[in-house]
Amino acid sequence: MVRPDPPVNFRDSCRYTSGVRNITSALRNRRSSGGSGEPTWIEELHGKIVGQSEGLAAVIPYVQMYQAGLSPEGRPAGVFLLLGPTGTGKTRTVEALAEVLHGSQKNVLRIDCGEFQMEHEVAKLIGAPPGYLGHRETQPMLTQMKLNAVASEKLNLSIVLFDEIEKAAGSMTRLMLGVLDKGALRLGDNTSVSFDRSLIFMTSNLGAKEMARQLNPDFGFETLLAERASASRVSAKKLESVCTAAVKRKFSPEFINRIDVFATYSPLTRVSLEQILEQQLTALQEHLDRRLLERSFTLTVPKASREFLLNKGTSHEYGARELKRVIHRFVMQPLAALVSQGKIESDADVTLEVDATKQNLLVRSGLRAA
Ligand SMILES: Nc1ncnc2c1ncn2[C@@H]1O[C@H](COP(=O)(O)OP(=O)(O)O)[C@@H](O)[C@H]1O
Ligand SMILES: [Mg+2]
Repeated sequence: MVRPDPPVNFRDSCRYTSGVRNITSALRNRRSSGGSGEPTWIEELHGKIVGQSEGLAAVIPYVQMYQAGLSPEGRPAGVFLLLGPTGTGKTRTVEALAEVLHGSQKNVLRIDCGEFQMEHEVAKLIGAPPGYLGHRETQPMLTQMKLNAVASEKLNLSIVLFDEIEKAAGSMTRLMLGVLDKGALRLGDNTSVSFDRSLIFMTSNLGAKEMARQLNPDFGFETLLAERASASRVSAKKLESVCTAAVKRKFSPEFINRIDVFATYSPLTRVSLEQILEQQLTALQEHLDRRLLERSFTLTVPKASREFLLNKGTSHEYGARELKRVIHRFVMQPLAALVSQGKIESDADVTLEVDATKQNLLVRSGLRAA
């Protein structure tokens, strides 16, 4: 049997990916690394988010302004709307920023706008006024304490995420006007919350369907060819204007005027998906090591198997989410089944190979006789 060319276990690939990812960002941020060899938070961020460097480049200066103490007063340090198709890294960007600035992706005050689709539901956000039914039971979701809790000792800056903003009721976006403009929110009990030390992110897939149509007018959403998007700078600009037009149709000019940055995330290319697969497999190896401790083993995924995962996991509708589902189904679940049955020896070298039918992956070595 022919063995695959490069080393493909994901302890090695940790080094491999970090080497690749830092080429461009290291050049871009050479001055900020101070020559210590330690990656800066900017390099780390570029390493975590694949193929969306323009979006990141638009956000980063606002963090630097805050770090330099130069953010304007009386409003949030930055207001961002991340646009683009599902599964292209919009929400992940916000989590990754929290990781690099605060050490954990949990350091985000996240509001799922899907929970605020009805006009009255805005009460969950700010709490009911005293005397109203449910006043005592409703703990507002957006209190100063909750906001402060997501900042860290490293950086006194809170990251707030209004995820999938297109789902929010009008009452919610109207309430947000004050937050975006003056950095202030009055709660039901008449106390107020200050967002001066906050970055406000909103994400949305508004315009994604039109974007797909632009990329492939003949076949519609399902057969969108992502490569076309990155193939030409012209189409990237065009996609941006498609998304912006959809945003203009949905939100009032007052709301739109309060947004500092509109970043359009492109559909992921094959090359980007390859890199995300590497990331995911590296993360999987780390997860195994962390959770199984001395029972852990080394996972090796040859090139043909990675191709298999990529082919199965390429979806223009769901982006990298489909790839994650495929990794779960073809890698995580079979491994879990074997581990739970005690069939993988600790320290084994476990290889995933494509089976004869080419429809599945086989777990090859390191197996004890059943
Ligand atoms: N550009 C990307 N770089 C790295 N991982 C990504 C990227 N896009 C998607 N992913 C992976 O897919 C998952 C879903 O992406 P997410 O950011 O939640 O999508 P959405 O754009 O719909 O908010 C993420 O948790 C991450 O693991
Ligand atoms: Mg999202």
